[in-house]
Amino acid sequence: MKKFQASAPGKIILFGEHAVVYQRPAIAIPIHQVQATVTVEERTNDGQHGILLDAPQIKLQSMANILPLDHPMEILFRLLATAIEVETYPDVTLRIHSSIPLASGMGSGAAISVATIRALLGYLDKTLPIEQINALAYQIEKKYHGTPSGIDNTVITYEQPIFFIRGTPFLKLKSVQEFTLVIADSGIPSTTLEVVADVRKGWQEEPQVFEALFDQIGSIVLDARQIIENGPISSLGTLMNSNQSALRKLGVSSPRLDYLIDAAIFAGALGAKLSGGGRGGNIIALVEKNKADDVSLALQSAGARSTIITTETPDNPKA
Ligand code: PMV
Repeated sequence: MKKFQASAPGKIILFGEHAVVYQRPAIAIPIHQVQATVTVEERTNDGQHGILLDAPQIKLQSMANILPLDHPMEILFRLLATAIEVETYPDVTLRIHSSIPLASGMGSGAAISVATIRALLGYLDKTLPIEQINALAYQIEKKYHGTPSGIDNTVITYEQPIFFIRGTPFLKLKSVQEFTLVIADSGIPSTTLEVVADVRKGWQEEPQVFEALFDQIGSIVLDARQIIENGPISSLGTLMNSNQSALRKLGVSSPRLDYLIDAAIFAGALGAKLSGGGRGGNIIALVEKNKADDVSLALQSAGARSTIITTETPDNPKA
């Protein structure tokens, strides 16, 4: 039986979420410990034609050709078919499995899109330039997010730490020193679409206040880039705390996220903030490597559903 499997990593936003929608810079890194994996496998003898989707985690078990026209997967199949000039898809089962927590700011939607595109391309013996895979994933992100900045699909497609400004070519970031983060899932799902819409409402009502906060976040991101590239990495902690304080003023934090952030700091983290859309989802804490386990345990005791310890190394082999 013909079969092809592909995957794509999760991601975190290290600095600059929300302000990035308003053209300020942001920094994101891929998180390889969590992955979306898509397997495309030949299917025979069931009398139905095309793609059978088998994705119980996202409650999707159906033939692709009966999905509503505005369903993100339907849009993906349609745009990909046009890009690779395929009229109909062969009879296959497309299985999606993801270890990226859903609706938690770790890019599960973008990772599923990218892994699906890669798996279908591989199965069909087709290729597309990476820029085009990224552009396709961005079209699907629009369906999930409304007005996405494009940072999620970019960091996930390129699998590199990136310095990103909406609408401009991104830069690959190389850190001068390694640094360790603890990522903790609050267990509270959050819809980025809604939080982004609330920020927009706030910005429309109080443009000066919101613009000033976006500027403040933008300058934190520029400082963070300097530190990542030149050190000392420990100074990133203070910047994370400043970024979190601005995010709180934007109204995208929550008592639960603040509680986890305080628990991380109390356990010895150098700084901590929410990551992604906010309200729920994940927080990230910068730690000295030998404190990572302590901070991780403290976050679990404070109620985090799960934690991930990840170390970003300067000698990223893909850089
Ligand atoms: O998908 P999330 O929750 O990581 O959010 C993406 C980050 C935002 O800046 C809030 C939105 C965007 O499109 O950049």
